[in-house]
Amino acid sequence: MNVPFLDLSRAHQELRPEILAAFAATYDAGRFCLGDDVTRFEQEFAASSRAASAIGVGNGTAALHLVARALDIGPGDDVIVPAFTFIASAWTASFVGARPVFCDVDPETYTLTAESIESALTPQTKAIVVVHLFGLAADMDPILALAESRGIPVIEDCAQAHLASYKGRAVGTMGVAGTFSFYPTKNLGGVGEGGAVIGSDEALMERVKLLRVHGSNVRYQHDDVGYNYRMEGLQAGALSIKLKHLARWTERRREIAGRYRDGIQLKDTRLPQPAAWDDSVYHQFTLMHPNRDRLRHYLTEHGIGTDLIYPRALHQQPCFAEVGPAEGTLPVSEKLARECLSLPVFPELTDEEIDYVIGTINSFEG
Ligand SMILES: Cc1ncc(COP(=O)(O)O)c(C=O)c1O
Repeated sequence: MNVPFLDLSRAHQELRPEILAAFAATYDAGRFCLGDDVTRFEQEFAASSRAASAIGVGNGTAALHLVARALDIGPGDDVIVPAFTFIASAWTASFVGARPVFCDVDPETYTLTAESIESALTPQTKAIVVVHLFGLAADMDPILALAESRGIPVIEDCAQAHLASYKGRAVGTMGVAGTFSFYPTKNLGGVGEGGAVIGSDEALMERVKLLRVHGSNVRYQHDDVGYNYRMEGLQAGALSIKLKHLARWTERRREIAGRYRDGIQLKDTRLPQPAAWDDSVYHQFTLMHPNRDRLRHYLTEHGIGTDLIYPRALHQQPCFAEVGPAEGTLPVSEKLARECLSLPVFPELTDEEIDYVIGTINSFEG
């Protein structure tokens, strides 16, 4: 049997008529850059994220960049970023000339903790980027208490955590702003690039909106140095359709994760567990195994697709060689990079495919 790591075509086939009809409507109306489809999606996404408002942008990286600019982060500032995440989390600092300060993550949740943040604070710390990695919310209460005591804003990078929550609160609504990606592989993915910023600080959101379109609210008057980070109408149309299915897809991801947890019994394997505050939305189901590369090879030989997310921590990336810290100083992130293996967890996986993945893993003899 062949089990792909991810097969977007299964959902896309099911939604094809509806999405193509939405495309046709947008095409015929010529609503390509921002416009009614984007406004409608922003309202729907704000409601589903339980946010005061949402601003649609070109991608998740742009969302982070806009928040960094709106917070006036710049040269001479430090921004705390987990060492184990996608590179774009660190661009929050780099794009505005600030320094990313990489912190180790918790071995259970793979997210930042208040302790690791505290050990990395400097007088220059201007913001903390908390990433709800793989769909699991970080332990926010201690982080928010620390950040508040120091007067430092928390940016929530929710690119992998649509519909995730922490003790009943939606991700992206606890910090100063939340950013999302709608890259096609995300839990809510477009048919191209997309992103959003959510928040309740009206002044900050107004600034994000201004910066999104060339720093301009009045045609050909530019009050700030801004960007072209508009969301496209065609993307918004597709995202509105997909958003209606997101809760069901999320439930299925949780069900698959539960089956993996109940079924996988491979020695020395660490499987992702629900946190005390809520279960993950399982953007990834990422296990740890000391013979990760051999296990991956074995699964490949048996037709099972897997991925290494992520094979290097951020302080190990060539582009951050000058930034540090040195190799060996962030042991959890480095161990994760060595041992992590992501299994297929997309909602359209069949029970038969899941059982095959479980059986094959359990037959691995190291
Ligand atoms: C944690 C994280 N942050 C930011 C991003 C950036 O999103 P995008 O690819 O839409 O720019 C991604 C996704 O790729 C991500 O996984």
